[in-house]
Amino acid sequence: MSRLIKISERSALSTTACLTLDIGYRDSVMDVHFDILLLNDGSGKLVAYLNQCPHTGVNLNWQPNQCFDQEQRYLACSLHGALFQPEDGFCVYGPCRGQSLVSVALVLDGDSILIDVDALPMDKLSSK
Ligand code: FES
Repeated sequence: MSRLIKISERSALSTTACLTLDIGYRDSVMDVHFDILLLNDGSGKLVAYLNQCPHTGVNLNWQPNQCFDQEQRYLACSLHGALFQPEDGFCVYGPCRGQSLVSVALVLDGDSILIDVDALPMDKLSSK
């Protein structure tokens, strides 16, 4: 069984290259919170990653919806400058080179963008 929650709408990406989303939900035993980067990978495909740099676990962005480097080619970590390929989250430069962002599978339903919370990597999420 899957539990889908809506995280955004396709139209929300019409005015920005990346959305930084703060997601939270309550399951039967705890509150779960995590941040997501939602973006177009450059080929028209929507992709999402946990907003956690593999280097230290911090969010990549320093301002809301600011995820890319100056050239708009790579996702960039604002703390130490790691660069990640938008299409697969692979780090090509910086202290975590060779590691990857954690991908989040998307379910598209019309304009709605959803995720299956039962498919999330629970060991990477925070809970209360
Ligand atoms: S925390 Fe992201 S490169 Fe160091």
